[in-house]
Amino acid sequence: MSNVQTILIKSSDPDIAKLASVALNDAEDYRLVFCEDDRTAIRRMDEVQANLLLYDHLGPVPDHQSALMHCRLARSTCARIILFDLAHEAEGIALSERAAAFLFLKKPLDQAQLRVAAKRALEQVELSRRHRMLSRELKLSLDDDIFMRTADSSVQGGYSQFERLVYVSSKMADLVNEARIAAKTNMPVLIQGDTGTGKELLARAIHFNSTRRNSPMHVQNCGGIADVVLQSELFGHLRGAFPGAISDRLGLFRAADGGTIFLDEVSETSPQFQVALLRFLQEGEVKPLGSDQMLHSDVRIIAASNKSIEKMVEQGSFRRDLFYRLRGFQLHVPALAERPEDIPFLTSFFVEKYAGVVGRRVLGVTSEALRYLEAYRYPGNVRELETEVQRMVAVAEQGGYIALRHLSDRISRTPIKEEGAGGFVPMGDTLKDMVESLEKAILVQALDRSHWNQSKVAQDLGLSRVGLANKIKRYELRRERR
Ligand SMILES: Nc1ncnc2c1ncn2[C@@H]1O[C@H](COP(=O)(O)OP(=O)(O)OP(=O)(O)O)[C@@H](O)[C@H]1O
Ligand SMILES: [Mg+2]
Repeated sequence: MSNVQTILIKSSDPDIAKLASVALNDAEDYRLVFCEDDRTAIRRMDEVQANLLLYDHLGPVPDHQSALMHCRLARSTCARIILFDLAHEAEGIALSERAAAFLFLKKPLDQAQLRVAAKRALEQVELSRRHRMLSRELKLSLDDDIFMRTADSSVQGGYSQFERLVYVSSKMADLVNEARIAAKTNMPVLIQGDTGTGKELLARAIHFNSTRRNSPMHVQNCGGIADVVLQSELFGHLRGAFPGAISDRLGLFRAADGGTIFLDEVSETSPQFQVALLRFLQEGEVKPLGSDQMLHSDVRIIAASNKSIEKMVEQGSFRRDLFYRLRGFQLHVPALAERPEDIPFLTSFFVEKYAGVVGRRVLGVTSEALRYLEAYRYPGNVRELETEVQRMVAVAEQGGYIALRHLSDRISRTPIKEEGAGGFVPMGDTLKDMVESLEKAILVQALDRSHWNQSKVAQDLGLSRVGLANKIKRYELRRERR
């Protein structure tokens, strides 16, 4: 980054322009840009990447036409100094409050004073820039720390990870593949799935695998929040836009410029909000409440819902055009009960995590306890499993295993099926014989379970119909009729 700082001077008064150029032109490495009116200043502000706005207040200008207010809302990192004379004192002071100015100076100006004020303002700009950068780096390095630790254990644990998402099931693997593709684009993503399935974790993983990873991801929950509050949180507002709006607010869309916004529970939004969100998705434009000025923002939207948006569209309670826009990529996170293969791996992942947190040594989970954990249906999905493991780790004996007696009643009461490949005892002396006896037993069980629906069995076991028929012939399997 160059050290040249750009100062934008908005004044139609030639004396001010002259004084500023003398005061600011000598020692420091400043680039001075002069504009006579607000409109030009608004246009030039971004073009020249102004770091300081010197704003000569010569009389009332409506907020939405004021370069000062524009700076406050759309280029908040640029410091603002206001100049006014005695005749405009009250107005000028109020304005400097409203525009969150660094300082106001009364005219006639003193060269030395202006020089010092500008220098201090620019130092402050630089300090807050560094502060933002360091906070971001700190956050990234904390996250890295978590990823490193989990990435290590994933090698031992035999599971895959997408950032902090742990899985082995093919359903999750397919989802992660799609999510990786989505991450490389700028398109909106709609993530659906039951509560606790990991939608937010997936959204974070997408953000961290996108080119926006060095900018923030902001999370906004759209449920249980008044519409006007939600709109002002996201789009910002001008002071006085609604009762209680006592000062201007920037809004997440502007604050997250260059980053990602995660809209949780997007199903809960009002029709007005849906219109505003659609406008952003179509034009990239946001309009703060109470303002008629359109601002631009480069933000990637990831939305999540645990209600079916399709159904809501059918029922007319969600805009169809918004749904089409939101689902640039449409991802569905399967319920945990639909991917029971993940349960043992998630369990040991959480055991390790919570044993580490409370500094306890837990050897693992007994296979009996695991069978109950695998059989339970988890209405609260991964979150429920995680809380269960957290509790089990706390009650398990130091240095011992987590056993059946440590499980919650609702889980240890789950009926257990006594079947499954685990129950087979292979017959025969050679490996070939044993494998064949196992194959035969699996076929018998699958055929019985489906009442000899051979297409289903072939599909379930990944065989062709002909392949299955050959095996039935070879093992001389017959349907037993009662
Ligand atoms: N695959 C996973 N691997 C590791 N942890 C997971 C996984 N899925 C979910 N979790 C954990 O489960 C909890 C719930 O996940 P998350 O908040 O992402 O779910 P959600 O779908 O957003 O839930 P809700 O709909 O209730 O908001 C979190 O603590 C998260 O860390
Ligand atoms: Mg969530």
